[in-house]
Amino acid sequence: LKDIEQDLAGVLHTEEELHARLEELAREIERDYEGRSILLVGVLRGAVMVMADLSRALRRDVEMDWMAVSSYGSGTTSSGVVRILKDLDTDLTDRDVLIVEDIIDSGLTLSWLQANLRSRGAASVEICTMLRKPDALKVEVDVRYCGFDIPNDFVIGYGLDYAERYRNLRGVAVLAPHVYASADD
Ligand code: PRP
Ligand code: MN
Ligand code: MG
Repeated sequence: LKDIEQDLAGVLHTEEELHARLEELAREIERDYEGRSILLVGVLRGAVMVMADLSRALRRDVEMDWMAVSSYGSGTTSSGVVRILKDLDTDLTDRDVLIVEDIIDSGLTLSWLQANLRSRGAASVEICTMLRKPDALKVEVDVRYCGFDIPNDFVIGYGLDYAERYRNLRGVAVLAPHVYASADD
């Protein structure tokens, strides 16, 4: 995107790399869920790109539903307390649920969400995330499918935002420090 080139410190994963990795994960998922129906649960808003691409990489039928959650507390630090802004419309009883996320950062959102969905009587609740930051993890999260482990930098694109911007960048890039440094002025 021409108008944000100066905001990027470098590209971490190109669109082609993301898609190739999703194809690999899709083959694993097809094998693991053979003979069972799948409910993909996307976490708004970051997961929309992964959901769109993963679901179409799968050579089988899936259902899709969406949740929106929000961490209490200030914008940049997660507290671990999560509130549901938009709940699922689907009954999870005996369902095989695969949560689809763009990134696991502290892990607080996903560990809470996985426990919450498990408590609804699902047969299984697994996680597929495009990105994970091992150095930022505050709680262990049981991740079944992970695209890439990445350094603890501020990353944007492919659904990931900074102040709601940059989500439509096709690859994943590191945000240049001058962008968020100047935001506090
Ligand atoms: C981001 C990201 C994950 C979550 C990961 O969402 O999309 O959902 O944070 O952080 P955690 O592992 O530290 O809990 P965000 O709350 O920014 O909402 P968004 O998806 O609408 O951007
Ligand atoms: Mn999110
Ligand atoms: Mg965000």
